[in-house]
Formats: sequence, C-alpha cells, structure tokens
Amino acid sequence: SKPLRLGLAGLGTVGSSLFRLIDEEADLIASRAGCPIVVSGVSARNRLRNRGIDLGDVAWFDDPVALANDPSVDVFVELMGGEGGAAEASVRAALSAGKPVVTANKALLAKHGNELAELAEDNDAVLAFEAAVAGGIPIIKTLRESLAGNTISRVYGILNGTCNYILTRMERENLPFETCLAEAQRLGYAEADPTFDVEGFDTAHKLAILTSLAFGTKIDASSIYVEGIREITTADIEAADELGYRIKLLGVARRTETGIEQRVHPTMVPKSSAVARTDDVLNAVAVDGSLVGEIVLVGPGAGGNATASAVAGDIVDVARGLKLATFGRPAKMLAPYVQSDMHAH
Ligand code: HSE
Repeated sequence: SKPLRLGLAGLGTVGSSLFRLIDEEADLIASRAGCPIVVSGVSARNRLRNRGIDLGDVAWFDDPVALANDPSVDVFVELMGGEGGAAEASVRAALSAGKPVVTANKALLAKHGNELAELAEDNDAVLAFEAAVAGGIPIIKTLRESLAGNTISRVYGILNGTCNYILTRMERENLPFETCLAEAQRLGYAEADPTFDVEGFDTAHKLAILTSLAFGTKIDASSIYVEGIREITTADIEAADELGYRIKLLGVARRTETGIEQRVHPTMVPKSSAVARTDDVLNAVAVDGSLVGEIVLVGPGAGGNATASAVAGDIVDVARGLKLATFGRPAKMLAPYVQSDMHAH
C-alpha cells in the first residue's frame, strides 16, 4: 500500500535515533503500521553536522514551517524542542493543515497544550505525544486509554532521567554534582540547556501534562512549585541514607478537596519503595486509580532509542488511523484548573 510520508523536524539525539530506526526496522514497522513508513523531508539547524546517519536524497528544509506545509509530508514529527519559536510555529502549521503531529516536546505542550489540542480538534488532526513524558515509558497511553475507567487521586514519580542519573552517581560513587551532570550530557540524556533538567523545570513540564490527563483539567504549568537538585550534596544523600531514605527528584500531582496540588522538589523516599529503587536514567511513574489501586511503571526516561520507541509507537497509531482525544477528552471539555489551597509554597 501507499507509504506514509514523515516530515522530521529536529535531528538531535532522538531525531537521529528515529531516522535510523525507520531505516533499519522498516519491515517490522510496516507490518505493524499496515503500510511502509518513510521520511520524505527533514529539517534541522545544521545541515553538515555528522550524526552518524545517511540522509541520502531525503529533501532538506531550512525552515520547519515549510516542511510542515509541504505537500510531500503526511505526518509532521516535531523533535526540535523549545516551548515556542520554530517548534510552535511548525506544529501549528501542520495541525492547521489537518496533518497529524507526533511530538516529544514537553515544554511546548506545558505552555501551549490547551490551544494546540483545540487546534488539532478543530482541524480533525491528531496530536500525539507519548515521547514527551518519561521517554520510553508508555504513561500517556496508560493514563488516557488503559486507566480511562478510573478516578485518579494521585500521579507522581521520577520524571527526569538526567537528575536521577546525577543523584544515583553522586550516591554510588560519592562524586560531585558537576562531574555527574557532565557525564549525563555526554550520554545524551540532558536537554540542550541542562538548567531545565537540574532546576526541575523539565519535570514540571511533564508533570503538567500528566495532571491534565489524570484529572481532566486544562494544563497549568505556571502554578507548579518547582525546586531542583543543584543544592543537593553528597552529605545530604548520606544523611538520608542513615535514616533509611534515598533522595529523588519527584513530580507530584494530587487531587485535594479544594483543587489540585502540583509540586516538584527533592524528596526523601523510603528505600524499600519501587520509586526509591529506580536508578540511573530510569524514570518511575506511580498512579493511584480508584479501580486498579496503585500501579508503578519503570523504564528509561531519556536517551535516543528509548524516546524514539515512543515516537515510533505514535507514528504507527497514526498510520492505523487511530484518533485518540489529545488529553483524554475533547479539548473544549477539559475542566478549568483549580489550584489546591493546601498548596504549600
Ligand atoms: N532531559 C530529559 C531527561 C530528556 O533527562 O529526562 C527526556 O525528556
């Protein structure tokens, strides 16, 4: 059957992995998707950078908006990052043209997710973002589809691989923060600007998305209390250890009697818990559902292949013609976000 043609914007760690995956696993993906998947055009900042992939005769676009609008593109895959700018403009262009969009961009969704979901709906287009939260862990589909029969009371976890990697290595090897951060950057886990990771903003972006899915509310990232891990020392980690705890950067959202509480900060977690035992670049997401009880998903939260895995899954959904409500219900039916008054700042 006719191939589904991707316009791929962004060839960083995740974009390059996806490009390679589409080439090397073409048969597998075609069998799952029901048609061949091909990259018909790419866009990135630097055409000549060596990424270890052969772009061959794939069309090059300097401008991602032109790529999104190009008639050769059936699905727009946005892996550039950034909460606005070219990422926002090109996603808007694709959705306005009724084209499905697959993105890993949590910053964009945390800032503009409500409007983008409405734009998608108004144009009968899909906006898929499994890769935006916790990398390879399928938490979006879990909350939106699998747990759709549950009332959710709480969702929380380790949502940033870079921070978890740093805390794990500081603890295990008694190394200073900066050394561990440099290593996380070298391994391709960190954001382009690692401030987003270590100061907790990346976790906050992801938490804002999970909150919307869990509670059926509009996204509100601006009201999240955020504290990162820059101030954590190996002495803090040792002190927690002696008391039977480990220090993890957690994002927590829960429903209270007065509204929703969302917060991000380093937390002492009892050593025996699944979340405390989650190490290195792994993420863990725990959900309390009225029917299912507590479930915890653990897996790689960053890295090229793990994140490309989630992107590929969304592309296959699109190829199959799945049309899933962006945040679990029609965008215009999301409830206004009401902040809990128990929220301690
Ligand atoms: N910088 C992010 C992390 C990448 O470390 O988790 C995945 O969003």
